[in-house]
Amino acid sequence: MGNGILKGKRGIIFGALDEKSIAWKVAEACHAEGATFTLTNAPVAMRFGSLQKLGEQVGAEIIPADATSMDDLEQLITQSMDILGGKIDFILHSIGMSVNVRKKKAYTDLKHEWMSKTFDVSAMSFHKVMQTAYNLDCMNDYGSILALTYIAAQRVFPDYSEMAESKALLESFARSFGYHFGVKKNVRVNTISQSPTMTTAGSGVKGFDQFFDYSDKMSPLGNASAEDCAQYVAMMFSDYTRMVTMQNLFHDGGFSHMGMNPTLLEDQA
Ligand SMILES: NC(=O)c1ccc[n+]([C@@H]2O[C@H](COP(=O)([O-])OP(=O)(O)OC[C@H]3O[C@@H](n4cnc5c(N)ncnc54)[C@H](O)[C@@H]3O)[C@@H](O)[C@H]2O)c1
Repeated sequence: MGNGILKGKRGIIFGALDEKSIAWKVAEACHAEGATFTLTNAPVAMRFGSLQKLGEQVGAEIIPADATSMDDLEQLITQSMDILGGKIDFILHSIGMSVNVRKKKAYTDLKHEWMSKTFDVSAMSFHKVMQTAYNLDCMNDYGSILALTYIAAQRVFPDYSEMAESKALLESFARSFGYHFGVKKNVRVNTISQSPTMTTAGSGVKGFDQFFDYSDKMSPLGNASAEDCAQYVAMMFSDYTRMVTMQNLFHDGGFSHMGMNPTLLEDQA
């Protein structure tokens, strides 16, 4: 049950793969808040994901698009405007994939061709989405564009590997494009830095289960869940946050400001 804070708004949601995906929960929250939107994912994800089910649940059409392909993105945005009956109010970029992490390469022995692919999928795709949206002039005034990120962009989490640099790049694109989109259309661009979350992308990181517990104990409020994140995203798409732009917003139960939590020391005793 929502409060109608997205009533009349149209959007595009990237990255729902299965029920654990953060984007899946965002789609449910945006639907509950009254938005209409299209859902998209890489063509390959259509085969092993369960996006069709979500589409039926939230009344959204599905448009496959590889977020690294400018042609796919142009088609996606044009078709979305046709289906939804007008310009777009919000876009969620919820995409991440590291080839070196997948292939278990150590950070000191990365394959740089794979690293380029990782950056393309996880970060440059955000620039590509925004550039396509900007050039098609598809955003309504005071629209909201968001991408999901992680605190490894600022601090060292060794097992996060090259995804740390991907997220630093992603956050930088939000600031730089936020300027251009703000000046042109009053559109705001932000990143949300989310707690570790049990999803396909998250649990691909080595030692994720232990790290999830550590982060949960370190944070005064505990880890923020995917559902919590979805509520925050919905608020960021709403008119309640019209003047927030070019920010990296921590949604992490307080983790980002902690030095030490005595609870962790008690565990050692
Ligand atoms: N899970 C966590 O712990 C965590 C924490 C902070 C931030 N994030 C970020 O949240 C976002 C969503 O991840 P998630 O945890 O929900 O995992 P997920 O695996 O459910 O979502 C990742 C999505 O990226 C999609 N994708 C991969 N390559 C693509 C391409 N070329 N084109 C289009 N889509 C593509 C996948 O199909 C998948 O749907 C990612 O940016 C991730 O880095 C996750």
